[in-house]
Amino acid sequence: MNEVAINILVTLLTSYIFPTAFAGDCGSNFKAKCTCGEMPYDGILQYVVNCTNAGFTNTNILESMPNETQILIFSGNRIDELPWNVFGTINKYYKLTVVDMSNNHIREIRGKAYHHVQNVKRLILDHNNLSISRDDDDVNHHHPRVFSNFINLEALHLTDAFADNSPPELSEDLHDIFFQSNLTKLRKLHLEQNEISTFKDRKVFCDLINLNDLYLGDNWLQEINFDVKCLKKLRFLDLERNKFEYLKPKDLKLLDELEENSRMERSIDLIVDFKLNPFVCDCKIHQFHKWLNLTKVNVREKEKLVCLKDGRNLERISQIQYDKCITKTKSDHTILLIFLLTALSIILVGLLSALAYLSRDKIRHAMFPVLDTMSKKVQYTTIKDDDCPEVHV
Ligand SMILES: *[C@@H]1O[C@H](CO)[C@@H](O)[C@H](O)[C@H]1NC(C)=O
Ligand SMILES: *[C@@H]1O[C@H](CO)[C@@H](O)[C@H](O)[C@H]1NC(C)=O
Ligand SMILES: *[C@@H]1O[C@H](CO)[C@@H](O)[C@H](O)[C@H]1NC(C)=O
Repeated sequence: MNEVAINILVTLLTSYIFPTAFAGDCGSNFKAKCTCGEMPYDGILQYVVNCTNAGFTNTNILESMPNETQILIFSGNRIDELPWNVFGTINKYYKLTVVDMSNNHIREIRGKAYHHVQNVKRLILDHNNLSISRDDDDVNHHHPRVFSNFINLEALHLTDAFADNSPPELSEDLHDIFFQSNLTKLRKLHLEQNEISTFKDRKVFCDLINLNDLYLGDNWLQEINFDVKCLKKLRFLDLERNKFEYLKPKDLKLLDELEENSRMERSIDLIVDFKLNPFVCDCKIHQFHKWLNLTKVNVREKEKLVCLKDGRNLERISQIQYDKCITKTKSDHTILLIFLLTALSIILVGLLSALAYLSRDKIRHAMFPVLDTMSKKVQYTTIKDDDCPEVHV
């Protein structure tokens, strides 16, 4: 039997046959509010300290976890502020690899909160109330080196992590944190559900040089208005449930370029997810439709993408007929052309008439020289006749 099979077997045994065999008391400090022990986590048996909905209002207890703790779940408590040295001043949690502090109403993480987290690979701060700005309520919440001790961090979860109505400078503050915390090993970044509509700082992710997967689902984006070309290792861009009504030509071009880079340099597919965006079935979606058929970008479940027709019915983008769009644009063009031609003709006629009027004398001379001479001749003749009567010899 291989290792995976053994793990699965152990997992099954521990969870169904001996559910409490390993998960036990954490010691007297914990007052039975948490469970500690080996449990299945991520499919393998690990030493888990689980303080879910335990009613803590501070983090003191985290200084006295068992040294062998691999996974900390400290979730559903009420901690307004993470103070300095959450894990104590002594470096003893060498095995700690996952820190889950989701759902704690955390408003501020002090700059020196996280020490001795050198082996943590995944930090989860989902569903908090974080402020990272410089001058919110006249207090500086901006601690750019806040994650700098996570020198091996590979996944950072910030889903719904920030206070509602976070200022647009959020991206600048995040950029500062990503840069100064030196998160060079980060591969996955979750930023779902943060009401992001624009990134004021387009380079917000550019210092995450090893980022593979960027999760931006459930935000308010209408276009790709941040730099992704700088992410040389990007392989998955999650844009589901945003506010795309169609894809701008510049974004389609950008995705194709990204795809080409990742295929040429790393021979992997670029995967993009656009599911559940409010696409509109009008002529602007036409180009997206064409692109979907041609592109080498792996668009997740692209045949299932739908758009809203006449504000009511959903239609599959892949099945829409665009004849109407094409003829409509054609006839539009024709009408425009006719209009332009008419207008130009009128102007031309006007100009010509004006010119003709102004140089009417010249024109007359040029056009009717014979007539002129003739009439003069007639005059001369007349004059002759009048003034010089014929002398009859
Ligand atoms: C942690 O405890 C909570 C509540 O007691 C439970 O629902 C959850 O499944 C536990 N997590 C793990 C990974 O054991
Ligand atoms: C988040 O913080 C703001 C400002 O301090 C506060 O008014 C609000 O109640 C907090 N929300 C939650 C869910 O804790
Ligand atoms: C950032 O991390 C890399 C590798 O993880 C290291 O080589 C570099 O010295 C660090 N830079 C700073 C400013 O800490």
